[in-house]
Amino acid sequence: MYSQLQQRGMDRPPVNVSTLRKMKADKQPIACLTAYDASFAWLVDNAGTDLVLVGDSLGMVVQGHDTTVPVTVDDMIYHSRLVARGLSRSFLVTDMPFMSYTSPEQALENSVRLMQEGAAMMVKLEGGSSQIGIVEYLAMHDIPVCAHLGLKPQSVHKIGGFKVQGRDAEQAQQMAADAKALQDAGADIVLLECVPNEVGKVVTEALDVPVIGIGAGPDVDGQILVLYDVLGITQGRLPRFVRNYMDDHNDIAAAIEAYVADVKNGNYPAPEHCFS
Ligand code: KIV
Repeated sequence: MYSQLQQRGMDRPPVNVSTLRKMKADKQPIACLTAYDASFAWLVDNAGTDLVLVGDSLGMVVQGHDTTVPVTVDDMIYHSRLVARGLSRSFLVTDMPFMSYTSPEQALENSVRLMQEGAAMMVKLEGGSSQIGIVEYLAMHDIPVCAHLGLKPQSVHKIGGFKVQGRDAEQAQQMAADAKALQDAGADIVLLECVPNEVGKVVTEALDVPVIGIGAGPDVDGQILVLYDVLGITQGRLPRFVRNYMDDHNDIAAAIEAYVADVKNGNYPAPEHCFS
């Protein structure tokens, strides 16, 4: 009856929430990337990526918007479904887009759609203490949740740009308290974007659930980057934490494999990718 989930005897058993927790406990770095379609999902999965995020960054890197704000639930479902078809091992997390989780009921309805229509295994939402009730409600309904803290791109117009967060002590303490409260509310993963190394370290040590960082330094449990940044496709000024793996590799598969190996070996991020 449970054979689909257990996949006994498979060479590459699928990653699930327990695998990710065990990786944190065993101090095995978790390699994560975004993907937006089946072909790239296949490459990313094959390279050994543990977690694949269908990020609402697709609004910027696929749809050509300046921010993630215009992305809709239907957009996320469409891309999530494509990515799911390319994966065999990686754990699939899909973003809840801007204003799709303003009440517990709306959050539940949209996360159910992302899981049923988009084949997501977990949903990710941006938010601090204001989202605790939402996370609690989703967790109560057994919806796996990743809580995104630090730089929250959906709030770009409120915070006045894509900036490093948590640089002053009060903001850093608030972020650490929010992370703990979100875990206690039922979040299964915390994602930290664009924070000083020290904040990444403190939050990671304080939590039992895995902490995935993007521009959060080397001391988090896993790293994630936007795939198009890793492949040097993204136009314009790139954040400090980006490393273009096509600089040293001639083909896409080799570049993705090198990123995964660097995360696993602790070679990414290097000091030049970090904030103090
Ligand atoms: O939307 C996205 O791709 C993300 C990453 C920046 C982590 O949230």
